[in-house]
Amino acid sequence: MTRAVCPGSFDPVTNGHLDIIRRAAAIFDELVVATGTNPSKSRLFDPDERLEMLREVCADLPNVTVSGFTGLIVDFCREIGAQAIVKGLRGGNDYEYELPMAQMNSHLTGVETVFLTTHASWGYVSSSLVKEVASLGGDVSALVPDTVHGRLVERVAGRR
Ligand code: PNS
Repeated sequence: MTRAVCPGSFDPVTNGHLDIIRRAAAIFDELVVATGTNPSKSRLFDPDERLEMLREVCADLPNVTVSGFTGLIVDFCREIGAQAIVKGLRGGNDYEYELPMAQMNSHLTGVETVFLTTHASWGYVSSSLVKEVASLGGDVSALVPDTVHGRLVERVAGRR
């Protein structure tokens, strides 16, 4: 049985994330989508809201579960018996950012990181850009799942 973790901030989950989740779920027997904390980023949605959105959009994927984690991702992987971490790569910047983390995680426990290349349709999509555009009144409805779009519009309107 192969079990992998797809970690991220998912603030909020985008169609790009969902594409990676779906494709990883087709490769591994079990996929755990895990929301962690990246202290270098500011948050729009609290951890429970991010988990709820992930559960909604992964509901049709029978081998996918959603979980939060605190502390090191490698400790979470060990706790749940996951052999691999899955990440999406949109381009060179992502690679530069992800490579040392993959190497550090390998150094710490030997866990493997598997990179999936983002589908070209989602190459420019990030949670940060989606939040920025939505907060300035732009239309991001094609870039996030419908349920996420509703919450996003409501949240940014409340902050104007
Ligand atoms: O979506 P993001 O912001 O790129 O997600 C980053 C995240 C949360 C996956 C990453 O920061 C992480 O793994 N944090 C857990 C703490 C940890 O293990 N840090 C050392 C990484 S080598």
